[in-house]
Parts: sequence; C-alpha cells; structure tokens
Amino acid sequence: MPTVTEAIQSRFSAHSYDPTHVLSEQDVTGLIDLARHAPSAFNLQNWRFIAVHTKEAKAKLLPLAYGQEKVVDAAVTFIVCGTLDPHKTIAGSLRPSVDAGILDEATFKGWVGAVEGMYADNPAMQRDEAVRSASLAAMTLMMVATERGMASTPMIGFDQAGVADAFNLDDREIPVMLVTVGRAGKTNWPQKPRKATSDILSIV
Ligand SMILES: Cc1cc2nc3c(=O)[nH]c(=O)nc-3n(C[C@H](O)[C@H](O)[C@H](O)COP(=O)(O)O)c2cc1C
Repeated sequence: MPTVTEAIQSRFSAHSYDPTHVLSEQDVTGLIDLARHAPSAFNLQNWRFIAVHTKEAKAKLLPLAYGQEKVVDAAVTFIVCGTLDPHKTIAGSLRPSVDAGILDEATFKGWVGAVEGMYADNPAMQRDEAVRSASLAAMTLMMVATERGMASTPMIGFDQAGVADAFNLDDREIPVMLVTVGRAGKTNWPQKPRKATSDILSIV
C-alpha cells in the first residue's frame, strides 16, 4: 500500500483505462465510504455522489462528456455534486457530532446560527462552498483510488446542464466534477511536472 507521499507523487490523470476491469457495487461503495471523510466547512458535507457504473448509464454519460471514452472504459465514473442550501441541512449534518460527544449543545447552536447567517441569503457563497466541498471530496476519492492501485481522472469536460438532467439531479445539486476510476490502460502519461515550489510558495 503506498504511503500518502507516494500516492501524491504517483497519481496521474488517466487518459486510457482497461475496459475489462470491473468493480463490484461493494468496491464502488467502499470508495465513497472513504471519500466522505473529506473535510467541509462546518462539517456541512454538502455533497452527493452518483456512481455511473452500468453499461447503460455509461452510454448515457458518453455524449454528455463530449465523447471522452474513459467514461465508458473506466470501471466507474462518479458525478461529484456539491449541494446548495447548506443552512437547511446543517443541523442534520452536525447532530451526530453532538451525539458523539465532540460538540456541546451551545457550539452546535452557534454553528447552526453561523451557517444560517453566512449562507442563507448569499447564493454566491453557497455555490463557492458547494464547489469547495465537492472538490475536496473528489481529491480524497482520487487518493483512495491510488491507494487501491487504480487510476483516476478528474474531469470538467462535460455538459453540466445535460448531466444534471440525464441523471435527475435536484435543482439544488451542482455537478462539480466527474471522477473516473479504474485500472489504467496501456497508453497513459505519467504525472506531469509541476511548477517549482519556490515559484508558488511565499512564507510570510
Ligand atoms: C478540475 C479539473 C478538470 C479536468 N478536466 C479534464 C477533462 O475533462 N478531461 C481530461 O482528460 N482531463 C481533465 N483534467 C485532468 C488534467 O488535464 C490533469 O489533471 C493535468 O493535466 C495534470 O495531469 P497529471 O495530474 O496527470 O499530472 C482535469 C483536471 C482537473 C483538476
């Protein structure tokens, strides 16, 4: 099993997948069981995942992903959604932290109030938070895939409105990213070089 450092250094965005590789529904569920450990503001967990797993669902996704064959060849493609209206769901998301004895009742009420104040009348902030949370979940998902010896690809090359319609998303759900997961095919680039740390880091 790779260390986190090894996973970060070895992960690459796959172009080609082995179309014979199959994941069971249990394997697919196991990926999200770990991805849901990603952090989110106030522990909002303002995300939802649709696993495009069957042949029929993949065929439906293909034209909406502008013909990117990897959504058919990979074992599964997740539609990673960020959800809006976090002030309507925060109490339910946070209550288990009180039940677990992590947050006290006063902190719970304070956070619920803070979320109401920050997001209720601020659609731009709701959207930002949906994209932030879904992106962190997507990255966590890709790390899990890497740990399990699989390749992954984050994708924004898809028709967002078309995907929302075809996969019956709620109008409060934003399809933020597709993440394809499966066994790598034969023709992939390795991870590409990154900018030097010295060019992107300021320590103040
Ligand atoms: C938000 C986002 C959207 C992307 N969309 C696509 C896509 O639609 N199709 C694709 O083949 N790769 C897509 N990529 C993969 C990038 O091209 C890739 O991460 C980048 O070239 C770095 O490659 P590497 O991680 O393998 O080094 C996307 C990556 C991100 C983070």
